Amino acid sequence: MTDWPVHGTITGPIVMIGFGSIGKGTLPLIERHFAYDKSRFTVIDPDDSDRAMLDERGIRFVHQAITRENYRNLLGPLLTEGGGQGFCVNLSVDTSSLDIMEYCSDIGALYIDTVNEPWVGFYFNADLGPEARSNYALREKTLAAKRARPAGTTTAVSCCGANPGMVSWFVKQALVNVATDLKLPFEEPTTREGWAALMQKVGVKGVHIAERDTQRAKRPKPMGVFVNTWSVEGFLSEGMQPAELGWGTHEAWMPENGRTHDSGCGAAIYLLQPGANTRVRSWCPTPGPQYGFLVTHNESISIADYFTVHGAGGEAVYRPTCHYAYHPANDAVLSLHELFGQAGKVQDEHHILGEAEIVDGIDELGVLLYGHGLNAYWYGSQLSIDETRAIAPYQNATGLQVTSAVLAGMVWALENPKAGIVEADEMDFRRCLEVQLPYLGPVNGYYTDWTPLKDRPGFFPEDIDTSDPWQFRNILVR
Ligand SMILES: NC(=O)c1ccc[n+]([C@@H]2O[C@H](COP(=O)([O-])OP(=O)(O)OC[C@H]3O[C@@H](n4cnc5c(N)ncnc54)[C@H](O)[C@@H]3O)[C@@H](O)[C@H]2O)c1
Repeated sequence: MTDWPVHGTITGPIVMIGFGSIGKGTLPLIERHFAYDKSRFTVIDPDDSDRAMLDERGIRFVHQAITRENYRNLLGPLLTEGGGQGFCVNLSVDTSSLDIMEYCSDIGALYIDTVNEPWVGFYFNADLGPEARSNYALREKTLAAKRARPAGTTTAVSCCGANPGMVSWFVKQALVNVATDLKLPFEEPTTREGWAALMQKVGVKGVHIAERDTQRAKRPKPMGVFVNTWSVEGFLSEGMQPAELGWGTHEAWMPENGRTHDSGCGAAIYLLQPGANTRVRSWCPTPGPQYGFLVTHNESISIADYFTVHGAGGEAVYRPTCHYAYHPANDAVLSLHELFGQAGKVQDEHHILGEAEIVDGIDELGVLLYGHGLNAYWYGSQLSIDETRAIAPYQNATGLQVTSAVLAGMVWALENPKAGIVEADEMDFRRCLEVQLPYLGPVNGYYTDWTPLKDRPGFFPEDIDTSDPWQFRNILVR
C-alpha cells in the first residue's frame, strides 16, 4: 500500500533503542507515516534475533546494549550525523529513560519512550526497599528534570505507549462524554486546572485503567514458561514493584500495609506487596465484573496528579483515585500463579506470543470512570487479533495499541518540538487520538450499573463499606 497518510517529516537521523515486540511493531508504522532518510535509521539492541528484518530494509543495526557508561558516546554521533533534528525512539528495557531523554534534550534531538525505565538492576535490587523501587520515585526524578527543561526546550515525551500513554487521552474523551450525558453546562477545558475542575464537577471518584486481554494461544502454556502478549521482562519488572495507586480524596480507609510518601507531588500511595500479586475488582465490557492485578504504572500517578484540584495553600481538595486493573492473557495469569506459588522465582523460559501463534481474542483496554451521577463508564479500544493482522504486520493486538500510541506521540512531538519534557496527560488528546484511531479497532463507551459491592457479601461476612460502594476498601481483594 502506498496511500498511508504521511503525518510529518523527520529531518535528522532516527535511532530506535530496543527491537523487541514493540520495536518490531513500531517499525512499519514509522515506515508508513513519516518522511525520513532511510540511510540514517539505526536500531540498537544486544539481541540480534530479528536483524534480518532490518537487513532486508537496509536499516543499520548496532548489536550492542546501551549502558550507563556508553549511552552518550554511542547515541551522540548516531543522533546528530548528517544534520537535521534527530529522533530517539526508546523501546527497550534496562536503559534509563531519564538519562537518555536528558541527553537527547542536550543535543537537540526529539525523544519518546513508553515507560519510565531505570538502568538494569534497579527493579530487583532488594537493598533499595519498596519506596525507592516505586514508580513514584522514578517519576519524581523525571518531574525534577521536567522543571529544569520546561516548554521552550526540545520535546521529550515520557511514557507514551498504550498505558501509560493512550489511556490518558481516553480519560479526557470519557470525561467529556460523561459530562455531556449528564447534561452539565461546561466548555472543553484548555488547561490542567480546567480539566481537574471538570473531573471534580462530574463527580468522578476514581479511574481504573481496566483491561481484559482475551488473546488465546494455539498451544497451551507449558509448565515452567512465562507466556505473555508483550515484554515478559517488562511485565515482571513492574509486577514485582510495590502495588501503587493514585490516592483519591474520597478514600476513607487505607490498607494496613499502605504507605504515603513524605516528599514529591503526594498524589499516590504504595502497598507493601507486589502489584502482580495484588487483585482488585473491576469491570470491562466483555467479561463484565472481573479481577484485575493492581500493577504499578506511571499513569496511575500522573492521572491522579493531573486531575488534582488544589486549594489556596497547595493542598489537594479534590483528587480521583487511579490505578491499573489488569487481567492479562490467561496464559500470563497462569504464569503469575506459577511464579508466586514458588515465592516469586521467575521461570527460566520466557515467551511473547507472536501474531501467528494466537487463535483468537481481543485486547480490551480502556478507562473506567466511576462514582459519578451515571455510576460508571468504560471507554476504550476493543482491538482483536484478526483486525490487527489485517491492518499492521509484526504484532498482536496488545502490541498495536502500544505502537500506534508511539506513532501518535511521535507526530505530536514533531508538531510541538519545543514542549520540554511532557507526559501524555499534557498532550493534545484529540490530535493524538486522531492519528491513533485507525489502529485501535472498535473504540466505544459503555455505561454499567456494576459496583464493587454487587452481589456482596456472599456466603461469608466481609469487611466492606456499604456507605460508599466506590471506596478502595471495597475494590481491593483481601
Ligand atoms: N506503555 C505501554 O503501553 C507499554 C506496553 C508494552 C511495553 N511497554 C514497554 O516497552 C518496552 C519494550 O517492550 P517490548 O514488549 O518490546 O519488550 P521486549 O522484551 O520484547 O523487548 C525489549 C528489547 O530491549 C532490548 N534491550 C535489553 N537491554 C537493552 C539495552 N541495554 N540496550 C538496548 N536494548 C536493550 C532487548 O534485547 C529486547 O529486544 C518495555 O520497556 C515495556 O515495558 C510499554
